[in-house]
Amino acid sequence: MSVHMKDRLGRPLRDLRISVTDRCNLRCRYCMPPEVFDKDFKFLPRTDVLTLEEIAHLTRLFVRAAGIKKLRITGGEPLMRQNVSHLITLLNEIEGIDDIAMTTNGILLPKHAKTLKAVGLKRVTISLDCLNDEKFRYINGRNIGVDEVLKGIESAKEAGLETKLNMVVKRGMNEKDILPMARYFKDSGVILRFIEYMDVGNSNGWKLDHVVSKKEIFSIINKEMPIVPIDANYKGEVATRFKYKDDDNEIGIISSVTDAFCSSCSRARLSADGKLVTCLFASDGHDLRDFLRSGATDKEIMDRITSIWEGRSDRYSEDRLKHTNKNHIKKIEMSHIGG
Ligand code: GTP
Ligand code: 5AD
Ligand code: SF4
Ligand code: SF4
Repeated sequence: MSVHMKDRLGRPLRDLRISVTDRCNLRCRYCMPPEVFDKDFKFLPRTDVLTLEEIAHLTRLFVRAAGIKKLRITGGEPLMRQNVSHLITLLNEIEGIDDIAMTTNGILLPKHAKTLKAVGLKRVTISLDCLNDEKFRYINGRNIGVDEVLKGIESAKEAGLETKLNMVVKRGMNEKDILPMARYFKDSGVILRFIEYMDVGNSNGWKLDHVVSKKEIFSIINKEMPIVPIDANYKGEVATRFKYKDDDNEIGIISSVTDAFCSSCSRARLSADGKLVTCLFASDGHDLRDFLRSGATDKEIMDRITSIWEGRSDRYSEDRLKHTNKNHIKKIEMSHIGG
């Protein structure tokens, strides 16, 4: 066992993304289309889902096995999980962890932001795909207004959480909203990131034509408000960072499709049902839950984590454009592993 373990392509394990639920209070059409995730959809039964204590226990073992310092809590919608702030408390107690972030749709933040900050959450990333209320109500599949998310953003800022925004850009859906979003958030103190629409899962009907490339997003913004690239904050950062020429405000573009970043991919994902997933586009994960529940020792679990990581050779996004259509392969849904 080594804290410097590397996978088969030489990549270390640096951060863990923890999905705490596969449920969500929205039905964004590119992620959980309402026709698929309807009232008959079988979400994970409660007993299949890791308890908060199990999550904290496994996380501690990831930290010991790999020296992870950075955690991100995801879902579905993580704030749908009862008592998620207790989990943050437990995770914050783990020696070695210095950054805990959460990816959320923001709607429940006004209720939880202060508590989350108090127990050790450092940052949130909130999803918002446009400012046009009618369009947003359609996209999120639950008729939720833009205001609800803006309130969530405000509450995060007020609570002192570092705040970023994610906007998934899909052609025909919201490419016209790129500029209004950039203008609106330019001086707002939050960093807006544009995400190329990805072929995650099998239910969102992804096509290459839907992708608005990093290059295109760049030029749409640059024409009106000139921007220049700036250095990454850390090796393996998924967003390419830019700053406006006329001030220090920042935006980001996440180009998993047209400019993949697999060569520096150092993220592991733990699903709500306790599977270790080594790529966002994997067909399945590796069980840790039943192993833990069957009484495996900490050392055995750490050995399993190490051997799964050392055996990993995923590079889906780098290969995607070589094999033009991989959409027939079974893939885990985004709502199961939280992006
Ligand atoms: P920080 O840099 O720590 O703020 O976090 P982040 O940008 O990694 O976190 P976030 O959850 O906001 O990630 C943004 C989006 O990038 C995700 O929702 C995914 O859509 C995409 N993404 C993140 N990690 C990966 C990855 O490993 N592979 C691919 N293909 N996409 C990723
Ligand atoms: N492509 C790109 N981003 C996606 N997200 C959800 N589905 C997709 C997709 N198909 C985003 C969400 C959220 C983050 C977890 O990933 O909007 O910001
Ligand atoms: Fe939308 Fe995020 Fe919920 Fe998916 S998990 S439906 S992207 S809010
Ligand atoms: Fe990592 Fe897979 Fe994303 Fe490539 S596609 S960056 S290997 S998670």
